[in-house]
Amino acid sequence: MRELGVVPYAAVLCVAGNIVSVGTTRDALKDPWIKKNKRRLTEIDCGGRVVLPGFVDSHTHPVFAAPRLVDFEKRISGATYEEIAEAGGGIRSSLAAVRGAGKSQLSAEVLKALRKFTAHGTTTVEAKSGYGLSLADELKSLEAIRSAARDWPGTVAPTLLGAHVVPPDFQGRADDYVDLVCQEMIPAVAKRRLATSVDVFCERGAFTEAQSLKILAAARSHGLSVRAHVSQLKRTSLERLLALQPLSLDHLDFVDENDIRLLAKSNTVATLVPGANYFLGLREYPPARKLIDRGAAVALATDFNPGTSPTASMSFVLSLACTQMRMTPAEAISAGTINGAWALGLADRKGSIEPGKDADLAIFDIKDYREIAYWFGSNLCCQAIANGVPVIPAAD
Ligand code: NIG
Ligand code: FE
Repeated sequence: MRELGVVPYAAVLCVAGNIVSVGTTRDALKDPWIKKNKRRLTEIDCGGRVVLPGFVDSHTHPVFAAPRLVDFEKRISGATYEEIAEAGGGIRSSLAAVRGAGKSQLSAEVLKALRKFTAHGTTTVEAKSGYGLSLADELKSLEAIRSAARDWPGTVAPTLLGAHVVPPDFQGRADDYVDLVCQEMIPAVAKRRLATSVDVFCERGAFTEAQSLKILAAARSHGLSVRAHVSQLKRTSLERLLALQPLSLDHLDFVDENDIRLLAKSNTVATLVPGANYFLGLREYPPARKLIDRGAAVALATDFNPGTSPTASMSFVLSLACTQMRMTPAEAISAGTINGAWALGLADRKGSIEPGKDADLAIFDIKDYREIAYWFGSNLCCQAIANGVPVIPAAD
């Protein structure tokens, strides 16, 4: 993760949305094919700035209709995330607006978020449903993601998070809701190809380990990939979840030595979302150093959502990773690009600047990659290229 393979004075040749060659500008200028086709090429002069693979944000919740400002103020006055959720705030308080919204309104919200992501240099985004929590409203949320993705040049990996919390209409009947997710939502989503993976919030106040395993096993039996929010508030042993070969396990604030050993042995990516710890005002952060040093594959993601992490900025997340979890700037960049791509099962196309991969690049107005995590709170991305399409970010 510390070896970025920096090429000074580099040039990247992209044709039809793919990276064709990568090398020095000097070699590119001598290349006979480039000389011959010069008139047909569009040159973007990066002026000695840093060019990264577009960020791969492998954990976001963009389908919501309003920020949760009351929760924000309650937390400032001392209430915890769980206390707010128990009092009817939290995830459940985002339900009414999503249920009441039409698909086109939701899709406009998602597109607004996607444009924010590209403004910050992100060209691939995982997008979860999870604020509808009925068959119709989860399908509507995933359809909103699909239609927003069509209007955005980047790449979206959609995820069904029907098991975010038990909705109020199933209060006291959690197992019936789990059956609805397994027997209706997952088959419908698989049939319509509305998502490539299924997620579950395996946590106190959400779904038990047994319920989570049942949901993820149903997803696997429908040919979908799986992932889980786990060990954010209290530890759940990762052994049984890992047996389902999830692409990623996310949050991981409370992992022990045994969990870390199992993660390191597995192909599952440990996705850390320190924006949530920051925004919840927590003092503790996930043990990134231990995970990396023991050999786990660590990714970083924004966890963009209205409750715990309303940021689209991967640069800010990378900065938190460096200052709060002692990751090096190089490790943070690997975690926000190629390891994010692995977490989405897209490492053959995304996450690095290599011939054969998609032309996803982000240009930053800096001279040294370490500045990405250093100038926290500023957006230094001046242009992104998503699947070969140049995007000039609007001011955010
Ligand atoms: O990743 N933990 C569960 N889901 C989100 C929070 C969603 C919300 O509060 O709206 C998370 O932190
Ligand atoms: Fe999340």
